[in-house]
Amino acid sequence: MLQALEPTADSGWLLIEQGYDPVREVSIESRFTVSNGLLGVRGARAISRGPTWVSWLQHLKWASWPRTFVAGLFDTPNIDPPVPALVPAPDWLRVRVHLDGEPVLQHMGEKLSHQRILDMRRGALLTQWRHRNPSGVVVKVSTYRAVSLADRRLGLQLVRVEVEDEAAHEVSLEARFGQMGGGLDADRLEQDLGVWRTEQSGKSLAIACSAALQLNGAELPGRAPSPFHWSWHWTSEAGLAASFQRMIAVVRADDPAGDPSREALNALDRAKRGGWRDVLAQHEAAWAERWQQSDLVVAGDDAATQALRFAVYHLNGAANPADEKVSIGARALTGDAYLGHVFWDTETYVLPFYIATWPEAARALLMYRYHMLPAARAKAARMGWRGAMYAWESADTGEETTPDHVLDPRGATIRVLCGIQEQHISADVAYAVWQYWEATGDDRFMLDAGAEILLETARFWASRAVLEANGKRHIREVIGPDEYHESIDDSAYTNVLARWTIRRGIDIATTLRERWKDRWEQLSGKLGCDDAELRGWADVADTLFINFDPKSGLFEQFTGFFELEEVDLAQYAGQTLPLDVVLGRERVQRSQIVKQADVVALLAMLPDECGAKARLANFQFYAKRCAHGSSLSKGMHALVAAQLGDVASALRYFRETAAIDLHGASDSVAGGVHIAALGGLWQAAVFGFAGVSLRCNALRINPHLPAGWQRLGFCVHWRGRLVRVDIDQAAKEVAVSLVKGDAMPLEVSGKSHLLRPAGTYRTGF
Ligand code: BGC
Repeated sequence: MLQALEPTADSGWLLIEQGYDPVREVSIESRFTVSNGLLGVRGARAISRGPTWVSWLQHLKWASWPRTFVAGLFDTPNIDPPVPALVPAPDWLRVRVHLDGEPVLQHMGEKLSHQRILDMRRGALLTQWRHRNPSGVVVKVSTYRAVSLADRRLGLQLVRVEVEDEAAHEVSLEARFGQMGGGLDADRLEQDLGVWRTEQSGKSLAIACSAALQLNGAELPGRAPSPFHWSWHWTSEAGLAASFQRMIAVVRADDPAGDPSREALNALDRAKRGGWRDVLAQHEAAWAERWQQSDLVVAGDDAATQALRFAVYHLNGAANPADEKVSIGARALTGDAYLGHVFWDTETYVLPFYIATWPEAARALLMYRYHMLPAARAKAARMGWRGAMYAWESADTGEETTPDHVLDPRGATIRVLCGIQEQHISADVAYAVWQYWEATGDDRFMLDAGAEILLETARFWASRAVLEANGKRHIREVIGPDEYHESIDDSAYTNVLARWTIRRGIDIATTLRERWKDRWEQLSGKLGCDDAELRGWADVADTLFINFDPKSGLFEQFTGFFELEEVDLAQYAGQTLPLDVVLGRERVQRSQIVKQADVVALLAMLPDECGAKARLANFQFYAKRCAHGSSLSKGMHALVAAQLGDVASALRYFRETAAIDLHGASDSVAGGVHIAALGGLWQAAVFGFAGVSLRCNALRINPHLPAGWQRLGFCVHWRGRLVRVDIDQAAKEVAVSLVKGDAMPLEVSGKSHLLRPAGTYRTGF
């Protein structure tokens, strides 16, 4: 077991937290989550959390939040406002060690050393703790935990206990489940099997568990006094260590008539037959494969490598290519904030990572939107429009789950209009479908699901834009990405993407008709979409009002934005609270203060909507008006700045994005890592600094590396190929190798080349 408890030798793969400080605990727990797209286990300590102590702490803001999240396990609790939330599964990791009858607890005795290590390469959390008990005896406890990337249902915990004393001592180890019952009703509780049901939504959860302890390589018989509760007792000798292992298998069933217990028991049986070492080996092999396709290394900037690895670690742990019924919440499976709800964050900020490194996961995320089409159609109909209007916040059914009010930091109620007005998500989803198709060439997906999403979102926008007396169509009363301004008209971001969506709807109809006639007939018949309707869409697209001033080259973020008060944001530099809190919502609404990348996001997503000069003008105009009141914002700014060649600003935004989760205030990270910011960080490196574009008829690379980045290396998938890219700053050379797949067209810094199988193309940039 010793080997499993040892971290990877290369410290570039590790995130290390020395010591223990309860004030920082909640953010460390988010950061050190282990997850696999089905299960997410926060990095709360498993050992030495006494029940009284925990319940006392839980009343405080900085309490420890042990959580195991199960993707898709939503229920609507009886709280105000009543919206679905992820229900945490029972805490399966709790362990208590007693020495001569006294519990070994952090706050009793002396902590000689305590470190937590997130071993990102191995997808595991390790702890190493040496403690002197009040009686003066030193105990060394090492732990390992992981949730398997090879079989997502499995979790593994290892604990090694050694008493560092010549004299014999009475030692016991007690393993239990904690927090059973919060939000879940127990249907069945046996020694090593539990089945729970959510209170309202009728979902069920089965956990099968096995626990064992060895001394000197031999199994030690223990006691099993109650369900999920085991204990062992032994007499220590110098140099003798006890090895404890616990394995769980977790299965969620969405059908109220379903019984997931059989599957959980079978999965656990299989795992037990192979043994924990096999579970661990397969998990590590699965991570090795993911890293092979998604690792980024920045030679010359270790901090950047660490930040990108941290991002990639969490992104790889957030998705599950095998489950089309779930998507990625704003904090993935790492914390309670946003209740597991899915926003545009997934399509706009994190999906590009999966498209480029894990197309199967990208496909599953888009299939989630396909399965949510009925709810999106119902929302559009309810609001008087046609087609599909996606929920701004979505959980397991696709119905709108945005709370209609929240409390501000002072306790005042604020009405939330996003569920009604933040409609751009219906263009973001369409944009994501198209991007996936262009980059992967996955026609099967387009035929089975993507085309229907495109047609239904195009139909929504065509009905949403209303013809007015001036002969133009307008989209009024919306919220753009900048949520500081509500009930606005003709948001540039929204209208440009709406027009783009309508045109892609027409394109896909034309393509289906030309290439897949049968499918077109079937789909157009199902949707009742005929030529007259398509002609109508073309007219809407041509007459849709776009807030763009050709003279200045500026988009006006929405009608009337330029008339609002200009505020010099430099005077609020260093302010840690969001500006709508500092200045008040009304003042911010009357000003040009922008919450987050809005027009700037548009520049990144549809760079060809305006010329290069206008792109620069818009970036310069909006960057200085942006308060970055959302974690999504700076990554997008980094990406656009890098594409514009403003590498110094891009690097500053990049570092500030990296710091959000790695060094951010405990409060903001407590609710989980900001997965969209992590996706934005990856995009800034690959689409920004490396200048990769996956959406042309050739893989395009156009690097702008920061001065200190000697080399940047990574892999991307493109239309069924796996390609390795190495950019060498000193040699001013890009090397592109085709690792897997057929010959393909490349365009590096404007030079075209046909890359042959197993070939490498080197060129200057
Ligand atoms: C941002 C949204 C984002 C949401 C979830 C909000 O603060 O303004 O753009 O979708 O957080 O991350």
